[in-house]
Amino acid sequence: PAARPAPGDEARPSGEEIQQALQKAHQQFKGTKDGKNADYIPYLAKVDSNLFGLAVVTVDGEVYTVGDAASPFPIESLSKPFTLARLMEEVGAKKVEDKIGVDATGQPFNSIIAIEMNKDHRAGNPLVNAGAITSVSMIPAKTPDERWKKLSDNFNAFAGDSLPVNQEVYKSETDTNTRNQSITALLESYDVLGSPADQALDLYTRQCSVNVTAKQLATMGATLANGGINPLTGKRVISADTARRTLALMATNGLYENTGEWLYQAGVPAKSGVGGGIVAVVPGRYAIAAFSPPLDKAGNSVRSQHAISQVVNTLGDNLY
Ligand code: DON
Repeated sequence: PAARPAPGDEARPSGEEIQQALQKAHQQFKGTKDGKNADYIPYLAKVDSNLFGLAVVTVDGEVYTVGDAASPFPIESLSKPFTLARLMEEVGAKKVEDKIGVDATGQPFNSIIAIEMNKDHRAGNPLVNAGAITSVSMIPAKTPDERWKKLSDNFNAFAGDSLPVNQEVYKSETDTNTRNQSITALLESYDVLGSPADQALDLYTRQCSVNVTAKQLATMGATLANGGINPLTGKRVISADTARRTLALMATNGLYENTGEWLYQAGVPAKSGVGGGIVAVVPGRYAIAAFSPPLDKAGNSVRSQHAISQVVNTLGDNLY
C-alpha cells in the first residue's frame, strides 16, 4: 500500500481498522513454527512457545489487543531504551554520546569484540548489553537501592502501571550471566563505568527481569510516540527531545545486527528482547507491541516481527 501522508493528517487508521489488522496478523502468524525460545537463560527456555499477543496503544490513549496481550513476560533488552531515556534526562544527551556512543556496532547484542574494536573502548551504543550496563552504571545515585528505585519508577511511569521483578528470572540470569560478567569486567578495565562493576551488572540483570505484558509494553512505546507524555496517565515521563533521540537509537540499533533488515521491511523504529517481546513506534500515532517467545538467530521474536511488520504496512504507517 502507498505510504500515508504526514502525521497529523485526517487519514489516520480508524480503531476498527487497527483492531482488524491485529486480528488478521494474529490469525495469520499464530501457526508459524520458525525460531526457538532463548535457551541461554534457563527460565526462558521453558516458557510456552505458543504464546502470542499483540497490542496497540495510540497517542489518544486508545487500546487494542488480541491474543495473549495480558500475559506477563520478562522485558529483557526492551528495558534498554527506557533506561537510556531516563539517563538522557538525568545527565544529558551529550554525555550519553561521549561515554557510550550512538552508532551501530553491527555485532550481536552480547559482543565483546565490539568493545575491543571501538576506538575509545566504549560500548558503542546504549541498546547492546555493554551499552545498557554502562547506562545503568551512569544513573546518578548514592546507593544501588536508590539507583534501582529510579530505574523501577521509570519503567512504571512509562507503563502507567506497576511492573514487578520476576524473581525466578532474576535468579536464573544471575546464576548464568557469565558472558555479561566478562563484558562488565572489560568495561571496568577501560574505566568507562559510572559505578562499580558488580553493582552495575546486578541492576542490569534486575531490570532485564522485570515482567511486562504486551499491553503495558505498547503503553511504554506510546509514551515515546507521544513525545514523552504517557497517553494513559497524561503524565510527562521524559522530554520530547529525549523521546525523539531514543527513537533515533531504536531505528539504528533496535534489532541488533538485523536492524537494517528490519527497517527495510517494517519501516519503523523498534526494539526487541529475548523474552520474545518487540515494540515498534509510529511517532505521533501509536506504538504496537508483540509477544511470542521463539526467536531468530539474532535474538528477535519471529512471530512478533512478522505481525508488527504486517500491521504497520497494512495501516500504511511505515515511515520509510
Ligand atoms: O543480558 C542478556 O543477555 C539478557 N538479559 C537480555 C538480552 C536481550 O534481550 C537481547 N535481545 N534481543
